[in-house]
Amino acid sequence: MAILFDEKKKVFTLQTKNSTWQMQVGRYGHLWHLYYGRRIQEGALDYLVRGINRGFCGAPYEAGEDREYSLDTYPQEYSAYGTGDYRTSCLSVEHGDGSRAAELLFDSYEIRKGKYGLSGLPAVWAGEEEAETLQIVLRDKASLVETVLLYGVLEEYDVITRACVIRNKGEGVWLERALSACLDLQRDDLEMITFYGRHTMERSLERGMCRHGKITAESMRGTSSHQENPFVILCEKGAGEEWGECYGMSLVYSGSFLAEAEVDQINQTRFVMGIHPEGFRWRLEKGESFTAPEVIFSFTSSGYGELSRNFHRLCQEHLIRGKYRNTRRPVLLNNWEAMEFHITEEDLVSLAASAKELGTELFVMDDGWFGGRDHDRCGLGDWTPNARKLPEGVAGLAKKIHDMDMMFGIWIEPEMINEDSDLYRAHPDWCLRAPGRTPNRERGQLVLDISRREVRDYLFDSIGGILKEAEVDYVKWDMNRNLSDVWSAACPALRQGEVSHRYVLGLYDLMERFVSAFPDILWEGCSGGGGRFDAGILYYMPQIWCSDNTDAIERISIQYGTSFGYPVSAMGAHVSVSPNLQTGRRTPLETRAAVAMAGVFGYELDVRRLDQEDRERIKEQIRWYKQYQELILYGDYYRLTPVGENGEFAAWQSVSRDQQTAVVSAVCLHARSNPIFLRVRLKGLKENRWYRVRQERLTESAREDKGQEAGAFCPEEKELICQGSGLMYGGVNLPVFKRDYESVRYVIEILDEKEG
Ligand code: GLA
Repeated sequence: MAILFDEKKKVFTLQTKNSTWQMQVGRYGHLWHLYYGRRIQEGALDYLVRGINRGFCGAPYEAGEDREYSLDTYPQEYSAYGTGDYRTSCLSVEHGDGSRAAELLFDSYEIRKGKYGLSGLPAVWAGEEEAETLQIVLRDKASLVETVLLYGVLEEYDVITRACVIRNKGEGVWLERALSACLDLQRDDLEMITFYGRHTMERSLERGMCRHGKITAESMRGTSSHQENPFVILCEKGAGEEWGECYGMSLVYSGSFLAEAEVDQINQTRFVMGIHPEGFRWRLEKGESFTAPEVIFSFTSSGYGELSRNFHRLCQEHLIRGKYRNTRRPVLLNNWEAMEFHITEEDLVSLAASAKELGTELFVMDDGWFGGRDHDRCGLGDWTPNARKLPEGVAGLAKKIHDMDMMFGIWIEPEMINEDSDLYRAHPDWCLRAPGRTPNRERGQLVLDISRREVRDYLFDSIGGILKEAEVDYVKWDMNRNLSDVWSAACPALRQGEVSHRYVLGLYDLMERFVSAFPDILWEGCSGGGGRFDAGILYYMPQIWCSDNTDAIERISIQYGTSFGYPVSAMGAHVSVSPNLQTGRRTPLETRAAVAMAGVFGYELDVRRLDQEDRERIKEQIRWYKQYQELILYGDYYRLTPVGENGEFAAWQSVSRDQQTAVVSAVCLHARSNPIFLRVRLKGLKENRWYRVRQERLTESAREDKGQEAGAFCPEEKELICQGSGLMYGGVNLPVFKRDYESVRYVIEILDEKEG
């Protein structure tokens, strides 16, 4: 039983393998948060919640002279605005009379097998054997508004999910805030780790102490954004990969969001997460309800390495759905960086043929194939193949690619419209645009109002028509700008505050229609690279293009940051040309491949232009990746070095779940004169079993020096045999890197008992 209720003490306990969450119905009916942290075997921690009579912290009316009982200081399970809790709130309700208040009191509960689902929203899914649900109904003291708190417990994964549904049984009200979850921790020793960035430089890690007042990670862009990410960590001060208490929170949502940590006057930390309240206002008529998206929580006392692995497993096994969940993915070649908009069928076919010879399995035609799309200022919205570029349509090209025994994929950007398009000329009111204003343009495009059913129908019919007619195995779903001028011609004036969220609901509806109508297609999310890399998208699409930055060295830090909350199997990563188109940096082909292989691997360059030597190397890379792909995508992932401004090298490791095989890659970020010896300690092996470590290839400079590598192990040895404990606690030497951006790779295999 993962969920227990102690009738006498009115304490709810949620248990996972290594964590416990507890809450209690307080003496006047409010729901207090008692504890979330390391697993407590038995008993209630209700003694932890105490009050004293403080100044300027009122008490509910019923408390009478019980003045120590204050909503402002007691830890709460779901905070509401206007009734004496002055800390950040989850819920703010405006009633018909203009009053803004809610005081939530316990009404009832239900425990059931299986995991709840959310109508119209993505959510973790799990069967009756794998999860339990706790539902708690809180009702507002003075109105007929109810809040249904939902908890899903996935014991084996150390995961607790939360969501909430606001129901209105009385006269119409406005929701001004409807966040998903609140976590009140009675401690002030927490750092918040967030992942900030910008286009082509997503998810850089930043950490800082939570302090009195608030710190936030947020997006008001209508998408989860390049600039911040809806995955954050609260951790014990100084926590690292293997040490320290860590709470991870991932919002299963792809629109504007708020994650906020506030340390209050008595050094307690409140964390809230959900839809960003800025610009949000939702009408709830009598009998209606509003569902706030899910937050996935995980706790570990063993550092954020383990926390990440909890999220990786959960995403892979209980968030991602469909045919490509937990299966290998085809190695692709995407034509974008090679051709941009200048495509012809002939050229595409010749590129595909060249890519096929190398061993790639999927050819992807990116932007530029539809309408009048010769550049980024026209064509979006016109989902008919451009007859000049594709005389036999998408179907004709798809056939030619399949005839080569390759899979075929296309790029789409359904949510957008160019003013220079037939769609815009026919339906100028189908985009988001405030009356009387010229809209903000980004990449020459406007945003389609997919909160409207007829717009979604048009997209489903036009794009779906192509997918029905042509044999398409893969679709990259792009989204190349943020929302602005959020105003829908189909929504009454007073309800315009709903449009931003309705857009996201429309997006999910459209994605659901597509993935269920075309279940064999491999879908890849994208938003100018990684501008919508979130758990919401992963419910529909198993992989997301990680960044438009394909520079291997910059990608190391982008993929490093991404790996904190998301699995390797979700990160699209490609080898591109050197010098790199974004940074001009030159990096060895092997390093570019090593970095891209820490993701869903592919190529994005004109492979026809490569010399024979590089082509042979690519064949070898693809052969190698196919051999180790499952281990890399679904094994346990370890970050072996932090990646920051001054790192000398970066290293990471994947270990098969059975701990039989591991792969380590290391890239030199900064070669030194008179270098110091570099070493990595491996992770995740069996302590007392013997392993063979094989350095797979020489570094570039060692190759040129004819193999004179200042030995990775000992001179002249290409192999090392050592116990798991030695490799983990002593480590493995890296070669002496003589040039920036060289890389090395080790394969580690367990020896059978005999050999050992
Ligand atoms: C975005 C994507 C790129 C490419 C272009 C095409 O920027 O992230 O990979 O598809 O659009 O316009």
